[in-house]
Amino acid sequence: MRSKHSIFGFLVILFMSFQSGLPALASGSRSEAYVTLLYGDEFLLGVRVLGKSIRDTGSTKDMVVLVSDGVSNYAKKLLKADGWIVELISLLANPNQVRPKRFWGVYTKLKIFNMTNYRKVVYLDADTIIVKSIEDLFKCGKFCANLKHSERLNSGVMVVEPSEMLFKDMMSKVNTLPSYTGGDQGFLNSYFSGFASAHVFEPNLSSDVMNSRPVPEMERLSTLYNADVGLYMLANKWMVDEKELQVIHYTLGPLKPWDWWTAWLLKPVDVWQNVRERLGESLPGTGGGRNPNEDLLLKFLSLLPLFVLLFCNYRSFLQISKDFFDALRRGSLCDHVKHIYYKFRAGGGLAYSAVGASSSSIINSNQQSKVPAYLGGVSIFVCFMAAVVSLALAFAVVPRQVMPWTGLLLMYEWAFTIFYLIFGGYLHLTYQLGKITTQAGLFSSHPESFDCDSGKGHQQQASTCDAATWYYGLGMALLAVAAPSLPCIFGITALFLR
Ligand SMILES: *[C@@H]1O[C@H](CO)[C@@H](O)[C@H](O)[C@H]1NC(C)=O
Ligand SMILES: *[C@@H]1O[C@H](CO)[C@@H](O)[C@H](O)[C@H]1NC(C)=O
Repeated sequence: MRSKHSIFGFLVILFMSFQSGLPALASGSRSEAYVTLLYGDEFLLGVRVLGKSIRDTGSTKDMVVLVSDGVSNYAKKLLKADGWIVELISLLANPNQVRPKRFWGVYTKLKIFNMTNYRKVVYLDADTIIVKSIEDLFKCGKFCANLKHSERLNSGVMVVEPSEMLFKDMMSKVNTLPSYTGGDQGFLNSYFSGFASAHVFEPNLSSDVMNSRPVPEMERLSTLYNADVGLYMLANKWMVDEKELQVIHYTLGPLKPWDWWTAWLLKPVDVWQNVRERLGESLPGTGGGRNPNEDLLLKFLSLLPLFVLLFCNYRSFLQISKDFFDALRRGSLCDHVKHIYYKFRAGGGLAYSAVGASSSSIINSNQQSKVPAYLGGVSIFVCFMAAVVSLALAFAVVPRQVMPWTGLLLMYEWAFTIFYLIFGGYLHLTYQLGKITTQAGLFSSHPESFDCDSGKGHQQQASTCDAATWYYGLGMALLAVAAPSLPCIFGITALFLR
């Protein structure tokens, strides 16, 4: 009984394949594919994560990545190892004279209409991710896309029925049809004019209805198939039911999900990062979306600031550890802390007492040569500039595509070190200048009130000064940690407050 059944099944398959011709037999289930495009290595991680998210939905369809010559051999090897079919394509020149510079090759996207060895392809931009299966998109008609923020279609997610005729027709119109973006999207909007009035694609139509109606020329996809994070940013939430979301599209230029800082700014990036962390080790060292070439650099970047700080401070480090171990040996660490605490209570704050001590010593010791009036203003200015410069430099140093935590920690480390060097250098310079200009005076008789780490000062004064430094330092550190976590505390999950 069973064998009869299978023979019957085999005959049916044989009959069907003869009906649809031999090419279909050769390609078989390969008649449908997911397709994306890669122009350069910058979006490589995006394509890897997209592929992983497609496979995670249980799809076994082909995944094709069209790569242009800007893509490195390593990237192609990695994508193949990830399960992508890598197809080389030449770029289609952009016929528009007036266009954004980065749009030089975007007309290449039209080549998906020429992938005639597939019956139907679902095209996805490299900055999209699948949250929930979108296999039903293959039921879509000849051309499907979604409208975005207007009556214009977005070319980030499209369902296309490749056809040589259609492609030739497009190519013949590339030079004449206008493009409002100066790119492929504008061209497609001109080519598929009237798209805005297309009906919405309904995946759950019964097969009777599907077969009896004429195949629509165009269909409009629901927002669920192309949910734009730009919209999320405006409202601080998805404007559609979050549980129903199928494709998230990270459209915003400087906020691509692979840049480490976006995870700290946009909640939807968590989805992307979760998939990224689960990326397999297709080639050695690439698990979790890591870049093996970057590993050594990261180690170097995280150690260098520590060494610099250690080098600049080795004297005070020695002193601190000596004090600490002395205190430990005498068992008086507790007393030491108590001592500081009482002093804090009595003096109304360490900072106050420390500043009081040093300023009074200036006045007492040096009445003729005053501190210049502009010094305070200049110091504040230098401090702010140093902060801006150190943040900018740190931002430039940290590689873009590291994990969010790695990026944040490296950022702190580098910003702090650079700030320390710049502002510390400024303070040192001021001190030296002050010393020179007052050399004749009595000023040099009390150098210990400024020199915190000379270690040779009067014991009590030195410890007050140290404690004040720590007090300020800890306050600053607390601020530095608190400031970036404010949005989290207030429940803001995107840049703008609702
Ligand atoms: C379109 O596809 C055909 C057949 O696969 C191929 O010969 C042709 O070169 C393609 N055209 C372009 C512009 O890529
Ligand atoms: C279509 O049907 C599936 C199950 O058959 C269901 O999960 C899904 O929500 C339906 N979609 C719509 C838009 O009704």
